[in-house]
Amino acid sequence: MSGEDKERVCVTGAGGYIASWLVKYLLLKGYMVHGTVRDPCDEKNAHLKKLEGASENLQLFKTDLLDYEALCAATAGCTGVFHVACPVPVGKVPNPEVQLIDPAVVGTKNVLNSCVKAKVKRVVVVSSIGAVMLNPNWPKGQVMDEECWSDEEFCKATENYYCLAKTIAEIQALEYAKRGELDIVTVCPSIVIGPMLQPTINTSSLLLLGFLKGFFFTTPSHSYMLERTLVLNQGVRLYRCKIQIPTL
Ligand SMILES: NC(=O)c1ccc[n+]([C@@H]2O[C@H](COP(=O)([O-])OP(=O)(O)OC[C@H]3O[C@@H](n4cnc5c(N)ncnc54)[C@H](OP(=O)(O)O)[C@@H]3O)[C@@H](O)[C@H]2O)c1
Repeated sequence: MSGEDKERVCVTGAGGYIASWLVKYLLLKGYMVHGTVRDPCDEKNAHLKKLEGASENLQLFKTDLLDYEALCAATAGCTGVFHVACPVPVGKVPNPEVQLIDPAVVGTKNVLNSCVKAKVKRVVVVSSIGAVMLNPNWPKGQVMDEECWSDEEFCKATENYYCLAKTIAEIQALEYAKRGELDIVTVCPSIVIGPMLQPTINTSSLLLLGFLKGFFFTTPSHSYMLERTLVLNQGVRLYRCKIQIPTL
């Protein structure tokens, strides 16, 4: 099948930890992948070009989430879009509005508007457990399902701006589905850990490394979530993966 005939999908934030794995598997499945990265020449994205099938089937687009026109170029011609990009800060950020809320919320809106324009058939938005769990009023012991959302006021009061951003962004994304503009699914991972494809360490891998090496860093959202997440289970899976722990 020639490149022109292959089904095209777009992955935002392609060079990140989760997105790199997604790109890898999409290439292995034979898709033509449009990956958005902020800087295609940055060494931190070099691993993408080395993935199997990348030389023929991976096209990188220089795109910031706040650049609607660039996003339109990346999603044009795609039947599917995986919106993965979002800042995942290590600690507190000095200017949450600019550093978190805008890229997450305005960024998601830009991606989804570009998908409407490109008539994308299905969009997968990567949200987070952070959009679900920060809800002190949820009845103890009750399963946190689609009805359970993080409480925006609680997020603000506890300075969990990452969770606030993910909550607003996911609610906004699902509005596109309710209005019938896009076919959207959202996924809410908890703490994702395992081997890294990218050369620079991401926040969730750093969190794990902190546990293993004895320096425990935490953000308000991490400490809240860790109290409620089966870290031990994830540790078992990690052990089975034989992860290579990089030295800092
Ligand atoms: N890892 C986890 O445990 C976990 C858990 C739940 C949800 N998630 C969600 O999963 C997604 C990926 O997370 P990850 O762990 O793979 O994080 P990551 O490695 O830090 O990847 C984040 C990606 O987003 C891109 N990005 C950030 N701000 C951007 C902007 N303004 N414009 C364009 N791109 C931007 C980054 O690009 P640069 O490299 O240029 O900064 C990077 O490629 C995020 O939506 C995150 O909220 C992750």
